[in-house]
Amino acid sequence: MATPAELARLRTQLDDEQTDHLQRLLGSWSLLADLAFSDLLLVAAVATPPPGTGPQMVVLGQVRPNNRSTVVSQDLVGQTIPEKQWDLAAEALHSGRLVEGTIFVAELDDDVPVWNIPVRYNDVIVGVLMRIQGPLRGPASLYERTYLDVFERFCSMVSEATFPFTDEEVAAEETPRVGDGAMLVDAHGRVEFATPNAVNALHRMGVYSPPDGSRFDDLGVEASLVSTALGTGRPVIEEIERRPDVAVLAHCVPLLDAGQVTGALILLRDVTDLRRLDRLVLSKDAAIREVHHRVKNNLQTISALLRLQARRTDQPSVSSALLEAERRIRSIAIVHEILSREPGDQVPFADIVGPLVAMAKDSVVVSQPIEIAVSGDLGETTADVATPLAVALAELLQNAVEHAFSGSEETDAVGHVFLTLRHDRHELVAEVRDDGRGLPARFELETTPSLGLSIVRDLIRTQLDGEIEMVSLDAADGGGTRATITVPLEGHSRGADRP
Ligand SMILES: Nc1ncnc2c1ncn2[C@@H]1O[C@H](COP(=O)(O)OP(=O)(O)OP(=O)(O)O)[C@@H](O)[C@H]1O
Ligand SMILES: [Mg+2]
Repeated sequence: MATPAELARLRTQLDDEQTDHLQRLLGSWSLLADLAFSDLLLVAAVATPPPGTGPQMVVLGQVRPNNRSTVVSQDLVGQTIPEKQWDLAAEALHSGRLVEGTIFVAELDDDVPVWNIPVRYNDVIVGVLMRIQGPLRGPASLYERTYLDVFERFCSMVSEATFPFTDEEVAAEETPRVGDGAMLVDAHGRVEFATPNAVNALHRMGVYSPPDGSRFDDLGVEASLVSTALGTGRPVIEEIERRPDVAVLAHCVPLLDAGQVTGALILLRDVTDLRRLDRLVLSKDAAIREVHHRVKNNLQTISALLRLQARRTDQPSVSSALLEAERRIRSIAIVHEILSREPGDQVPFADIVGPLVAMAKDSVVVSQPIEIAVSGDLGETTADVATPLAVALAELLQNAVEHAFSGSEETDAVGHVFLTLRHDRHELVAEVRDDGRGLPARFELETTPSLGLSIVRDLIRTQLDGEIEMVSLDAADGGGTRATITVPLEGHSRGADRP
């Protein structure tokens, strides 16, 4: 689906600055929907309506209130509506005046109250904010009346081009909502109204005196956001930390009338639990890193023990088997080493490739010089993909340096090994190619009884749901052997989600 900015660019005549202004409105209008207990739509004039249809408007955005059920359950974003059908919105668009009336809502099979608020930017009406109000339930309570009153003040600001604020960052996930706790202060910072949730937030900060009638600054909340917002006419967000372990996020939005600050709306959200979770995640991260570090140390110890034992035996076959096992364990240790440095469960695979290649170079036994070239990247992989993949690649690289060039005649020609990595949206592809003598005549990957490739086959197929293919290349393709590993990402990320 098109974004509001795309819709504005494709369907309207709004320029970039005007579109940005509407985007900012969409970024902060959830506040307005809650204050109005209403659904809101943002419409703008269509640049070139199809011939014979008359003027049209396009819906750029839609938001539902968090504190009421919606009246408009359809998704209207992107729809074009003839001005004839929404004549009141069209009137607001052309006259620049707020137009009240009713609108027919098909789902309710009824007319409901609608306000059409012109959105002004630099003296031009760039759109209309439509407020569609659900059926009222009895007479409004004090808090409902206060919210509606504040909403009306915001409506004037929208029409006077003072809301949304030009330099306010678009609301983040954490920004307090009206329902988290709201307070209204007058131009002098005196509290006119506070919701029960706002009072709770004050209590959490150790402020027990009733706020109504007092100046916010005198309540004992050591924060300057209200005086700053009232003084500058700009919104302020501040995280207030009080007593060990209590954090309250406060958002102070000044209310303006004809450019004069007439008060402010303060939204308070107790984020203590969120912050505690943040800290917990951080310390859990550190603990996981420490575990990886210890696993790596233990693997290095095991590999040292195997190396010692290999030296003790005088049977060459036993010694080489022990050294093989030692090498395999080392390739797993590499992954844990990288994991112990990275926060979280993701490893940049590129960090693993370097040590793997170095390990393969170390174990070159043939006299011919061998070069290993790496190209491409696999990006970030989870630990449970990285470990089997690293072990498999270590085997393939080892095979290339061990078998591809052994017994070849021209011993001074350089042997080449190419490791090529690719990260697609759906799969990881790793290819190890050499320009050596190719696979033995009756070689079959599926039936080879040797340990190295059995390990590779098993890891790739059973642990990664992937595929491995090995072929000898024709002389025309450079000769040698090519092994290709393909690992589907989708299937694996499902596995990675498992707790
Ligand atoms: N790149 C290659 N070029 C030529 N032959 C290869 C290549 N890779 C594998 N082979 C052949 O495939 C055989 C099986 O390889 P595999 O890795 O399973 O066992 P291995 O290397 O002999 O022993 P190990 O268990 O120590 O790895 C090798 O012995 C070799 O003959
Ligand atoms: Mg091998």
